[in-house]
Amino acid sequence: MEQLVTSEFKLGIIAGGQLGKMLVLAASNWDVKTFVLDADEQCPASTCCTQFVKGNHLDFDDVYNFGKMVDMITFEIESVNIDALKKLKQEGKRINPDPDILEIIQDKGLQKQFYAQHKIPSSSFKLFNNKIEIENALRQGELKFPFVQKLCKGGYDGKGVSVIKNENDINNLLEGISVIEDLVEIAKEISIIAARNERGEVRCFPIVEMEFNEKANLIEKLICPASLNDSIVSEAIDLAIKIISSLNLRGILAVEMFLDKENKIWINEVAPRPHNSGHHTIESIVTSQYEQLLRAIFNFPLGSTQLKLPAVMINLLGEPDHDGAVKYEGITECMSIDGVKIHLYGKKKTKPFRKMGHVTVLASTINEAIEKAEIVKQKLKAKAW
Ligand SMILES: Nc1ncnc2c1ncn2[C@@H]1O[C@H](COP(=O)(O)OP(=O)(O)OP(=O)(O)O)[C@@H](O)[C@H]1O
Ligand SMILES: [Mg+2]
Repeated sequence: MEQLVTSEFKLGIIAGGQLGKMLVLAASNWDVKTFVLDADEQCPASTCCTQFVKGNHLDFDDVYNFGKMVDMITFEIESVNIDALKKLKQEGKRINPDPDILEIIQDKGLQKQFYAQHKIPSSSFKLFNNKIEIENALRQGELKFPFVQKLCKGGYDGKGVSVIKNENDINNLLEGISVIEDLVEIAKEISIIAARNERGEVRCFPIVEMEFNEKANLIEKLICPASLNDSIVSEAIDLAIKIISSLNLRGILAVEMFLDKENKIWINEVAPRPHNSGHHTIESIVTSQYEQLLRAIFNFPLGSTQLKLPAVMINLLGEPDHDGAVKYEGITECMSIDGVKIHLYGKKKTKPFRKMGHVTVLASTINEAIEKAEIVKQKLKAKAW
């Protein structure tokens, strides 16, 4: 059946951060109206969507009433009021990805149980209700160092994750219901974005390699394609396909994986939405992750994920010690470098390590792209006035 896309079609996007903004921009190439729900009137997507709706993504009424205004709902964050989405689904609203899938992914404990049930390799884990239970388990020898604690709900950008290597790290234990999982000896962190439409067609983007900034616990540099041998590439892609298919997901799914020092792949976590590790697709892949998400949720054939040019993506993070109205330094110089594509999200205020924008650098070789990205990293700064 031909999918209806008319100028009257209203796509609702929950939250209007940079991912929402880039999704709105992709949708604007089609004849689709975009409605964005966000608590902040000055959020990045507010300037380019068809209609901005002020409201909190965690509030039942705000999400429910927003859902009533649109023909289909998607989201750019995981933390959405799930009861409101479920009620909307019950009433027949199209929601992609499905709220039942989001409910599993929102909770790291349920996510880990899903991997275990489907025999998907992810480090061994136990669930704890609070800090005291964890301390008791340590005392009784039921739990051994090193391990990683993850709050089941509400974590993002590494907040809600604590790596506990030995007794000295005990003070870093977090309070709340959490997953405790084995520490993986990570050789590389990689990510694959998979897309799937209602017909069950699946396509994966090329694998990216992520380099982390330890201090900010954020991705610092992302390299596409990752340098991996062919057997690891196909194993990783098979895993991403297995996960998106077992979830029966309509939309896109970013699958974060670890490659350990023995070349074994472990699933870290998944995100059922556009992902930071897919920013580069706007320029470096025939179909961007945003267009692919739209194709998937409108049940169109999925687009080509062919790489056009090797790419490196760097986040433009707010400078440490800078808090206030933002100004950007070094833009002109960076624009003079061939292949440098600058994205500024339009956030009015900078804060230390806040994601203010990103830069994708395209070049004919990955090494050239890395070199150029290093220059951009030195020159381009988000500072306060
Ligand atoms: N089991 C593990 N072993 C070793 N390191 C881990 C483990 N789990 C997480 N980490 C480290 O902590 C980082 C953040 O963990 P995770 O991705 O689960 O958190 P998050 O806050 O949901 O992430 P995001 O930054 O993607 O929003 C990982 O990218 C990895 O560097
Ligand atoms: Mg992560």
